[in-house]
Amino acid sequence: MHRVHIRTYGCQMNERDSEGVAALLRAKGYVVQDDEAGADIVLVNTCSIRGLAEEKAIGKADHLLRARREGRGPRLVGILGCMAQNRGAELLDRLPDLDLVVGTQRLRHIPDHLGRLLADPAPARRIDLAEEAGFEDALPGRADGRQVAAFVSIQQGCDMRCAYCVVPRTRGPERSRPPESILAEIRALAAAGTREVTLLGQIVNQYGRGSQRAEGGLSPFVRLLRQVAAIPGIDRIRYTACHPIGYRADLVAAHADIPELCAHVHLPFQSGSDRILRAMRRPYLAERIRRLAASLRAARPGLTLSTDVIVGFPGETDADFAQTESLFRELGFEHGFLFKYSPRPGTPGHALGDPVPAPDKERRLARLQELLALRSSTENLRQIGTTQSVLVEGPDRRGGRLMGRTENERRVILDGPSSLIGHIIPVHVTAAGQTYLEGKPA
Ligand code: SAH
Ligand code: SF4
Ligand code: F3S
Repeated sequence: MHRVHIRTYGCQMNERDSEGVAALLRAKGYVVQDDEAGADIVLVNTCSIRGLAEEKAIGKADHLLRARREGRGPRLVGILGCMAQNRGAELLDRLPDLDLVVGTQRLRHIPDHLGRLLADPAPARRIDLAEEAGFEDALPGRADGRQVAAFVSIQQGCDMRCAYCVVPRTRGPERSRPPESILAEIRALAAAGTREVTLLGQIVNQYGRGSQRAEGGLSPFVRLLRQVAAIPGIDRIRYTACHPIGYRADLVAAHADIPELCAHVHLPFQSGSDRILRAMRRPYLAERIRRLAASLRAARPGLTLSTDVIVGFPGETDADFAQTESLFRELGFEHGFLFKYSPRPGTPGHALGDPVPAPDKERRLARLQELLALRSSTENLRQIGTTQSVLVEGPDRRGGRLMGRTENERRVILDGPSSLIGHIIPVHVTAAGQTYLEGKPA
């Protein structure tokens, strides 16, 4: 019996993909384990979004291969996902004794590749980077009936070509999964006890663009949201990532009309300077973000927002950054992913180089981090004494207690019996940190 460990870097799509690969391998009789120790196969599911993300994964694979050369490491080491797709055979310059390289669109063939590598006494390396034509069948889910909150992939790839972004290279052209297939997966999840789904794609609010029509004034994405909300047992719906240009009136209205849609939206604005937005090829103005935030909050009182920001994009001056800072402050994002620009080979913006000095990037990043920390701790402290509706997802990582989330996606640590797992319960908030609340069942 072979023991496999999958190490995952990157975003939720990668986490979902790793779950899918694990399910495929289990079905073939492999043991998939959380720990690296004792695994005879290690697969590294990689991310290419920033230079640092790539270095981490290469470092990990290098470490494993080195251990193997010294007679300690796993028998097989593979690189999967975005960096495999993006760098392909070039990875072998850095990691010449890698056994397996599988791109984002060939993950379902991993059991086959591993089977052949294991059957061969002197295995030849396997590289599989082919592209799929449409949205082929989704990878299976964990299917162990214990997923209170599950990720569901509804779309792959992206056609936007934002100047900084490698995703169109790593994930290929935009493809939407047919609604029947999505709904069948969610019905099965609901039957097995799932209460919350997060619909995943790179630009989910453009779901169905090009392949499905608007009907009755509703975009394919909003239609899908309604169908998901109608599935018995599904009480909460989230979605990510979305692009500000995909927010039309019907999606804003959905936040008022569909009670299952959680009161939290991730609205990545990237920069508050119109000049930099244009250079980034983000087709909106800062004013659009202001209006959108206001209409979402009007549609759903109590809605919270999170965002993504890049500092130090080529050409960004202190004055541009000041506009980012003021938009960030003004809209009161409660959570944010804040990044220093990292030039990526092959992206439309790569020719612009990386002219913003590192200390300027550092200073701008630190400024936003400071604002964010202040904002999230203040807002969390304001929750003390309130009662929140919490979906209890499972045991807390540190053990002994339970973990759940509010509708605003705040993490809550609470005490209570494990029979609460899978239930939405009122929780009285008793304490707060910067990234979590503590409470007790009310
Ligand atoms: N599809 C999503 C984003 C995927 S990447 C969307 O459009 O929102 C997640 C985030 O990484 C981006 O929103 C951006 O803020 C950041 N990012 C992407 N490329 C980057 C780069 N080259 N350098 C720094 N941050 C980057
Ligand atoms: Fe990247 Fe832009 Fe597509 Fe998001 S919308 S994945 S940032 S190219
Ligand atoms: Fe990274 Fe690929 Fe996600 S590049 S951010 S893991 S889509």
